[in-house]
Amino acid sequence: MLKPFLNEALLELVLVLWLGLRVLAVCPSVCSCSRSHREVDCFRRSLRELPDGLQHNILSLNLSHNQLLHLDDRLASYTHLRVLDLSHNRLSRLPRGLIFLN
Ligand SMILES: *[C@@H]1O[C@H](CO)[C@@H](O)[C@H](O)[C@H]1NC(C)=O
Repeated sequence: MLKPFLNEALLELVLVLWLGLRVLAVCPSVCSCSRSHREVDCFRRSLRELPDGLQHNILSLNLSHNQLLHLDDRLASYTHLRVLDLSHNRLSRLPRGLIFLN
């Protein structure tokens, strides 16, 4: 019979998809995320640098009220980013690699 094999294959497929989505859907442990982890709130978390574990396709990132000194190129790979709040930090220069659209 073919049926048990199909069921097993289906189960495996579901498992792989579920694990895959779990890996893709990441939110830095110190931040809170919404909208499938694409809106990230790291407001007032005493951050000195960009938190690890940001999903590559984030849309908005709120880093206000932290102690960031410099970000340099660290935001350049987040090409979907549309809203970025860096207010109330210790930045002395703008991060490189941001494209300003109007
Ligand atoms: C970032 O979060 C703070 C606190 O919730 C809020 O006041 C501020 O408006 C947010 N920034 C943006 C761009 O939404």
